[in-house]
Amino acid sequence: MQLTDEEKRMLAGDFGSTVKRAMEVLVKLGEIHDAPYMVEITSAHIDGNIDKEHNQESIAFLEQLAADNIRVRTFTTLNTIGLDRLKYHELGFNDAHFENQFRLNKAFEGMGCLGVYSCTPYYASNLPRFGEHVAWSESSTPPFVNAVLGARTSREAGASALMAAITGRTPYYSYHVPHNRLGQALIKVDCPMRGIADYGLLGYYVGSRVKTSVPVFNGLSEPSRDELIYLGAAMATSGPVAMYHIPGVTPEARDLDEAFGSNEPELVIHVDRKALQEPLDYLNDMPVGPVEFVAMGCPHYSLRQIERLAGLLEGKRIHKDVTLWIHTSEPIRYMAQRLGFDKIIAKAGGLLTADICTICTPLEKLGFRTVVTDSVKQAFYCHLFNNFTTAVETMENVVNIAIAGVWEGKRYNGE
Ligand code: F3S
Repeated sequence: MQLTDEEKRMLAGDFGSTVKRAMEVLVKLGEIHDAPYMVEITSAHIDGNIDKEHNQESIAFLEQLAADNIRVRTFTTLNTIGLDRLKYHELGFNDAHFENQFRLNKAFEGMGCLGVYSCTPYYASNLPRFGEHVAWSESSTPPFVNAVLGARTSREAGASALMAAITGRTPYYSYHVPHNRLGQALIKVDCPMRGIADYGLLGYYVGSRVKTSVPVFNGLSEPSRDELIYLGAAMATSGPVAMYHIPGVTPEARDLDEAFGSNEPELVIHVDRKALQEPLDYLNDMPVGPVEFVAMGCPHYSLRQIERLAGLLEGKRIHKDVTLWIHTSEPIRYMAQRLGFDKIIAKAGGLLTADICTICTPLEKLGFRTVVTDSVKQAFYCHLFNNFTTAVETMENVVNIAIAGVWEGKRYNGE
């Protein structure tokens, strides 16, 4: 790989053994992917959750880095964790549950990372510009960075994003390279899409079929930013999708010709309401009966989503046996508090959480086995990691189910 003088000095150890080791890892990564050189990054986003990425060894390692005064060289934010730092007692946990998470947070923050603890860090200060190179981990963020913002990131692992943050560099490969961003699969959507549950189902269906190809959607009319976030999150859940185009909506494709460039579509997929039934059948396996747990905000809800939810809950009361959590980031929760939405939600019996995600939280300690949600990604991971049975519904239906306290079986039909 061609390296700049500064990168060569990093590799030679002029900036210390940690930077040297991080650069060695990145050079190796670049060589594996035939990257010709490194690019400077303007930000990084790292997974700082205890169970998913870190064990005792990695905590001790990161604590040592912080103690050795190692600092990230670029603006770096941290992803969702299992700990709501202000409300974990209210959620039913105690300090002992999070002993390791506290240590990990301290180590990362000691290295200069900003603890926004969110999978929507772009709502909380980390907002790359069009064309910027960044290194972001957590599956739902690369499709947003690449497709919606037009910035450039590979689908980073937590470790590679950390190495990039420490050196301020990443190898020039994957979606950093313009040609790799061009469309490869044409997705013809033949049914109207409404709301984040629909976009989640569409993403799940497409992600499981296109594999590593870049999908180009035809037939979608003006999805909202929240819908784009849920589309990308679901595609990155059932498949490794980290880039897509919607001509006229996403910034790199005004039309199909621009989306595909010199590529011919290697795959054409038709999506209708019947196709979307397939993921729905898989994800709606919760037995008919009482509801115990309802969770929304995966990816973390925006302020608009919270406003809409508060509107649906205003003046109502969820069933006394139902626990309702709505996940967002601390900055968004703060704004929701300023606008009074948290009080409306609390009065209805729900709780606006910050920093956490249903998947990262030690739910087994609370005894839940099922979840009703409006997020396809959350339903999928609750199956996979928590062994839950799940139900996916629209936001309105989720609210009605939480109020009734009963799941009556599949009612979602995209209306
Ligand atoms: Fe975010 Fe957790 Fe969902 S990290 S995207 S809330 S699985």
